[in-house]
Amino acid sequence: MERKPVYYSDYLQLDKILDAQKTESSKEGIRADDEMLFIIIHQTYELWFKQILHELHIVQQIFRQDNIANNAPDIYNSVHRLKRICSIMEIAVSQMSVLETMTPLDFLDFRDLLLPASGFQSIQFKMIEAALGLTYQNRHGKHYYTSQLRENEIAKVKEAESQLSLLTLINQWLERMPFVKNDQYWHDSISDSAFWTEYREAYATSLRENEKNNLTTFDSLFINTDDYPQERSFSAEANRNALFIMLYRDYPILHLPYELLNTLLEIDELLAMWRYRHIHMVQRTIGKRVGTGGSTGAEYLRAAADSHYIFKELAELTSFLLPRNRLPKLPQSLITDLGYTG
Ligand code: HEM
Repeated sequence: MERKPVYYSDYLQLDKILDAQKTESSKEGIRADDEMLFIIIHQTYELWFKQILHELHIVQQIFRQDNIANNAPDIYNSVHRLKRICSIMEIAVSQMSVLETMTPLDFLDFRDLLLPASGFQSIQFKMIEAALGLTYQNRHGKHYYTSQLRENEIAKVKEAESQLSLLTLINQWLERMPFVKNDQYWHDSISDSAFWTEYREAYATSLRENEKNNLTTFDSLFINTDDYPQERSFSAEANRNALFIMLYRDYPILHLPYELLNTLLEIDELLAMWRYRHIHMVQRTIGKRVGTGGSTGAEYLRAAADSHYIFKELAELTSFLLPRNRLPKLPQSLITDLGYTG
């Protein structure tokens, strides 16, 4: 059957999108020239949030496969999609400056008409946080979380929270990493545990006087794994493997795994930048007034920004890195397998 010719505005359903800016001020017969900008900015964000969720779902699907560790095209695909999320987040951060052209007085023209709606009710934003790995337990201000959303929207966020998050999936993938804990490599001269004992020695000697406490943390994370803190998102094994990837990322086989970990850190950083840009804009626009959603405003947002980092355990691993010239030498069979011709 012949396909109907596609027409630009039909394809994009512009009739719906361009008819979706209904200002509250015009309904009330009040003049508020900036409400249009306010709506369009929020709609643009929601479209980008939709795209981010789309990319995250694909990456989650990829990492749900058991054989992902050996499947380089899949990891490449994931890194590519996560980097796209970073590009979108960069736009999301810089886009704040367009809204900042609206002055506090301009906002006051229509602010009260929005009560009690708030960006806090953006469930797509919460679904992104959940898909990345923010759990309900770790949310700041849980009471706002349940009190401000409609029942059907709470259900959507809960559904997102019930799926295996990227954080959990990356933990599982790291646990499955070959190389570490594999007799094929760690025999004769050096074993897996001998590697970590040697690493500990090198690490201990690298610490300055006022950094000596780091060694206690190092031991509980990498050496006495019986003391490994229960509350961490990464298991002791995943944690070790992540550090190993960071340390030996120059070997060809670890390039992509390293890119992956680094991109996750970049997403966390860009999300934090978005949160801080938003806080500054909020302070500039409403000062110390409470938010339209009824939270303490900037105070709530600052606490959420500080506590909602998803991959903070990965970021902390940088405290345990050593310069290349101090790294334990790997067994030759492992070096061979970490190369392209292995
Ligand atoms: C004049 C502009 C804005 C002001 C004054 C403002 C203010 C606030 C305030 C005070 C909160 C805390 C919750 C509350 O009590 O309402 C909040 C939360 C939030 N806003 Fe905005 N906002 C603005 C623009 C935006 C834009 C353009 C977006 C883009 C989607 C956005 C997304 C969010 C999100 C996602 C939250 C929840 C953040 C979290 O829970 O960590 N806001 N906003």
